[in-house]
Amino acid sequence: MATRLAGAKAPRIRVGSTQGAKKVLVLHGPNLNMLGSREPEIYGRETLADIDRRLIALGKAAGASVICFQSNHEGALIDRVQQTRAEHVGYIIANPAGFTHTSVALRDALAGVAIPFIEVHLSNIHAREPFRRQSYFSDQAVGTICGLGSRGYELALQFILQQA
Ligand code: DQA
Repeated sequence: MATRLAGAKAPRIRVGSTQGAKKVLVLHGPNLNMLGSREPEIYGRETLADIDRRLIALGKAAGASVICFQSNHEGALIDRVQQTRAEHVGYIIANPAGFTHTSVALRDALAGVAIPFIEVHLSNIHAREPFRRQSYFSDQAVGTICGLGSRGYELALQFILQQA
């Protein structure tokens, strides 16, 4: 887990909120639909469908419902986040992909719904190009996992399931 940046405010959301925690949204940003064939030396050979299947099964075994959503479009991701309130989603796992480094609007959407979220990246964004070190999400996230490949999503989900 990444430590919070010096000077960053404490997240407004408590760790381990139990309200509706059995419904988890997994949000995948742009180009993650290409996993398996996209720069496999960085992102691995698993497809997004493989990853989602495992997360759904892990959730099911723990009595939780896992909803997976991928889009290449910022507005669609924002719309999906806004929907979560009505659905009583208790937690979000977000890999904003390229929007990590650019999207104030998606950050605002997550802040707006006030649902705790964990930021996940397959690659270690701190060990790549300098522009990837900046995330618009990390200071709002309960925690951040990066560099552990698809295991990062599972670890995030296990953490959430333990809070429920
Ligand atoms: C990523 C890292 C981002 O910098 C990149 O733009 C992605 C994927 C990751 O999972 O490692 O698309 O979020």
